[in-house]
Amino acid sequence: MSLLIKGARVVTAADDYLADVYVADDRVTTIGATLDLPADHIVDAAGCYLLPGGVDPHTHLGFNMGLTTTSDDYASGTTAAAFGGTTTVVNFAQQKRGQHLRAAVDDGLASAEGKAVIDYAQHIVITELAAESLGQIDELVDEGVTSIKMFMAYPGELMVDDATLFQVLERAGQVGALCCIHAENGPVIDVLVRRALAQGRTNPSWHGRTRPELAEAEATHRAIALAEMAESPVYFVHLSCAEALAEVTAARDRNRPVFAETCPHYLFLDSSVYDDESFDTAKYVLTPPLRDARHHAHLWRGLRTDDLQVVSTDHCPFCLNGQKTIGADDFSKIPNGGPGVEHRLQLLYSGGVVAGRLSLRRMVDVFATTPARLFGLFPRKGTIAVGSDADFVVFDPNGTTTISAETHHMNVDYSLYEGWRLTGAVRTVISGGRVIVDNGVFTGKPGAGCYIARDASGQV
Ligand code: URP
Ligand code: ZN
Ligand code: ZN
Repeated sequence: MSLLIKGARVVTAADDYLADVYVADDRVTTIGATLDLPADHIVDAAGCYLLPGGVDPHTHLGFNMGLTTTSDDYASGTTAAAFGGTTTVVNFAQQKRGQHLRAAVDDGLASAEGKAVIDYAQHIVITELAAESLGQIDELVDEGVTSIKMFMAYPGELMVDDATLFQVLERAGQVGALCCIHAENGPVIDVLVRRALAQGRTNPSWHGRTRPELAEAEATHRAIALAEMAESPVYFVHLSCAEALAEVTAARDRNRPVFAETCPHYLFLDSSVYDDESFDTAKYVLTPPLRDARHHAHLWRGLRTDDLQVVSTDHCPFCLNGQKTIGADDFSKIPNGGPGVEHRLQLLYSGGVVAGRLSLRRMVDVFATTPARLFGLFPRKGTIAVGSDADFVVFDPNGTTTISAETHHMNVDYSLYEGWRLTGAVRTVISGGRVIVDNGVFTGKPGAGCYIARDASGQV
């Protein structure tokens, strides 16, 4: 199978130039000003950007959150990702308490089997690990699971204590795994939540009001200190506010290997949604909660200055009807999370590049290149180069995208961005040399995506 992409404006994190790109089987073999090579399939990309396929390092497909499981599995979730130009996801395999890490990873792999339409890798969520079991981490690294998520929130469910956090950080650093931290002070948040409920404050707006910025900043500070004592790098997931960013910036200014991602909902939405005390606000019960709009400028600035390195989606969808309603009488029971895997690129382009907040190359960097580097996928993923996987997005900067739950491909009954009209549109998506989305039509196949055993993090 060969494929020739003609007349594209190739944009990577480093370059921006006009070229033809030739693919044999699933890899890029030749890039040149004008290529005249026989090909089974030709894609005319004139007038469009050719970007590396996106790498989304934070998705929860088939993820159990206590009383329910996310509404997208690997089939629907990766299909939606493909429509948004994402060609690799790093999904969370979750350790049940006491479970051997290997078994948790095997469960995650089984849930992807025959379903994924794009390539995928896995992080492991550690919820419990005794000191004598730390060797399980080494086994996973040998098998390409080179990142670990730990929660400082959700006591009694997902939270690990500081001793576990420290020991896992230490071991991970020694064997080349990157720890991804959900930084919020869970015990303090629990006090605030219980107090609100005791006062009869049960509607979803109280989710936002019981998870203050300082709870995130304190945990970020603590995890940075633990990582420094453990002599290990650390990566913060879904960073949402200026106060937490200041902790990351201060650590980076001290030359510490500290990294962080933010997500589109923290860049584009704000806490005014919690002014509405109706149950509709359950759509925005995600964690950390949306913050005051003053934080937006800090996050965009962080992306420009490299204090934030990645934009992921934290795609963690639950339907408003039937799933979020579990918490109809008690906001603390609403499953936390929101949908987003389909619109990361379109939002970043329209609200970032067109709005003058990010350069085009920097957008590619935070969308594909740096997530690939940090999570051991580069240069196979995250760039367009000879030898790299043939994963691309042909993006039409003059197209438009209108977001609606009526038309999106995520298996969820609402959108965080309902009715938003954006500049730019995904025209064609190519995964491993095969066209899987073409002008709004899905041409991929469940099971065609491959599991990627990852290298050690580029930073560890
Ligand atoms: O609300 C969120 N983010 N749910 C998913 C779990 C997590 O914390 O990443
Ligand atoms: Zn989290
Ligand atoms: Zn998450």
